[in-house]
Amino acid sequence: MIKKIDAKQLKVGMYVHDLSCDWMSHPFLVSQFKIKADSEIQKIINAGIHDVYIDTSKGMDVLDAPTEEEVKKEIHAEMIQLASETPSPIIKLSVAEEFNRAKQIKNQAHQLVRTVMQDVRLGKAVQLEQIEPMVENITESILRNSGALIGLMRIKNKDDYTFLHSVSVCTLMVAFCRSVGLDTETTRQAGLGGLLHDTGKALVPDEVLNKPGRLTDEEFDIIKKHPKDGHEILLQTPQIGAIPLDITLHHHERMDGSGYPDKLPGEQITTLSQMAAIVDVYDAITADRCYHKGMSATDALRKIFEWSKFHFNPQYVQAFMRCVGIYPTGTLVLLESGKLGVVTEQHESNLLQPKVKLFISTRSNAYITPVEIDLSRPMGKGGADKIISHEDPAKWKVDPIRFLCSA
Ligand SMILES: [Fe+2]
Repeated sequence: MIKKIDAKQLKVGMYVHDLSCDWMSHPFLVSQFKIKADSEIQKIINAGIHDVYIDTSKGMDVLDAPTEEEVKKEIHAEMIQLASETPSPIIKLSVAEEFNRAKQIKNQAHQLVRTVMQDVRLGKAVQLEQIEPMVENITESILRNSGALIGLMRIKNKDDYTFLHSVSVCTLMVAFCRSVGLDTETTRQAGLGGLLHDTGKALVPDEVLNKPGRLTDEEFDIIKKHPKDGHEILLQTPQIGAIPLDITLHHHERMDGSGYPDKLPGEQITTLSQMAAIVDVYDAITADRCYHKGMSATDALRKIFEWSKFHFNPQYVQAFMRCVGIYPTGTLVLLESGKLGVVTEQHESNLLQPKVKLFISTRSNAYITPVEIDLSRPMGKGGADKIISHEDPAKWKVDPIRFLCSA
């Protein structure tokens, strides 16, 4: 049985099933192993890991610890509670209307980040005058329909992960800032910070950056230099603002002081860096990497909510969930009626009742003519169905994003 315990309850002989933190943040080559020495427990605690999941069928048990299922249920209940609070989606066009433009913006931004990173490797300065218009394009797309670009950014070519991740963090930061009501200039600066936050990775050797497997301690130390390196590179950029500098330096800081490079305690991490930390981890853990399959957006939100006890500001995590939805646009969902569809638009006041474009009947195991329904509407008007789960597109061999672009 899988159970969740406090890291301080760990004992030699227990079997660690999951270190309960994102896999970029812990120094272990594997995340499942039997504890053989007290020094391993100390290493876990020193890494800022506060609770872990243990497998009691492979090691010692803690009798009164909650099971994984109990923890999941409790977090899900809290998420459902949050879902009834009002989000603030900004929708001027439908996702289908914005789709093609968003696709172009994604491609252009991807190429731009690639060029910036190449320039940095060659010792050239970052050209803000090329980057600012791109952040503007991304912001405008988000304002027309945030779901189109956010949905599209979920698809990342594994080889181009670093570049696409930067575009994604920019996109999500802009949407997040707008949804919490930050002003246009702050939003623009935060988007710029998102696009440039990993500039320091240009100095990380490719074999470490794209290593198809877990990093050694030494490699992890190299990666950990990227916030400071990026900050130093950006300091050489004329007209760079304080916000992108701060996000670049501090997006890996954690509320309990376990982050890097400065191990800042929560009260010393700015709001925008706290927001960037959430967005950065959300995007990283939902992405497929060559050694790791990404989580679904819904699972990632649940995990970040769970980790927010120590690593993130819980209030901001909740605000982020209200921004992207419990079932973000582009998520494949199964409805009570047995129909399968893709989430196309968030509901303005209930995150559990988005619009969904249905295209498969699991009862007849066949494609149906795509039809968009609004789950918030009463029976007979396309509503009265409800989401029972999110589904893995690979399991159904479908590409839900393909159905976003058809009107
Ligand atoms: Fe980073």
